[in-house]
Amino acid sequence: MEEIKKGRWYHYKGNEYEVLYNARHSETLEPLVIYRALYGDNGVWVRPSSMWSETVTYNGAQVPRFTYTGDMDIQVRPEEHGDYRETENLTREAFWNAFQPGCDEHYLLHIMRSDSSFLPELNYVALKGGKIIGNIVYTKSCIVDDNGVQHEVITFGPVSVLPDYQKSGVGARLIFHTLKLAREMGCRAVIILGHPEYYPRFGFRRAREFGLATEHGETFDPFMALELNPGSLSRLSGVFHEADIYKINSADASEFDKTFPFKEKKVIDTPL
Ligand SMILES: CC(C)(COP(=O)(O)OP(=O)(O)OC[C@H]1O[C@@H](n2cnc3c(N)ncnc32)[C@H](O)[C@@H]1OP(=O)(O)O)[C@@H](O)C(=O)NCCC(=O)NCCS
Repeated sequence: MEEIKKGRWYHYKGNEYEVLYNARHSETLEPLVIYRALYGDNGVWVRPSSMWSETVTYNGAQVPRFTYTGDMDIQVRPEEHGDYRETENLTREAFWNAFQPGCDEHYLLHIMRSDSSFLPELNYVALKGGKIIGNIVYTKSCIVDDNGVQHEVITFGPVSVLPDYQKSGVGARLIFHTLKLAREMGCRAVIILGHPEYYPRFGFRRAREFGLATEHGETFDPFMALELNPGSLSRLSGVFHEADIYKINSADASEFDKTFPFKEKKVIDTPL
């Protein structure tokens, strides 16, 4: 029987549910999932387990009907000043030796919070038992259209989950939570450079589908875009510019890293 993992799940239309039980139809023996709405009057529902794992077409993208977003005891909240060092350390742990020997992302996080491009309203941490296990941050970025007009969009990253907690829904929880907030804030679209296998589940599509290119004229797979409202990127081809803060000085990053406990740097076979 296909067991659906107990815990929190995000429905592609934005509502969240808790999976309570796996069961079987008493006559047909069909596997069923019993789940509870995490909104309104917390209604309890049942549906065939096979439907749980289907993908659907939504806003031009192929996305899972439900995405697992972790245990019920994982909390998300805005990052607070007193969290800074802990969050920078988890960023270091998450990125260390992932894309280069060592990493610079913890230094990037350290300097970006005071940058004019930073969006503090979307700076969120995930916690389990009071320990910070994940973080996501966003900056303002822009598309310059073919007439030279600038259109504001947003970009997230670094997004980090402590290695021991990766692949257990924490990243998805942070991403869905903040995408919903960004939509409510009236942001138009999110443009990122990231893992091309991971982000499509959130509705991201290749940026080239929208006629977008990077400053260097590239349209590679990790360059992805998400419309926060249907059609918000239509008729908006042009060049994407991320905030300058992402162009970090690696010597400064290296000095900053010395304020953390020593970690060995390894040569990476497959950099992004
Ligand atoms: C990438 C990251 C934020 C994802 O968060 P997470 O909590 O581990 O991921 P989730 O539990 O939400 O999702 C798990 C799914 O994502 C996939 N996934 C996780 N990391 C991935 C990666 N680097 N590339 C491709 N897929 C990835 C898993 O295979 C799993 O897929 P499945 O559901 O089909 O089994 C986290 O793994 C991390 O911090 N990685 C190191 C830093 C990093 O790469 N940051 C992002 C840079 S673009």
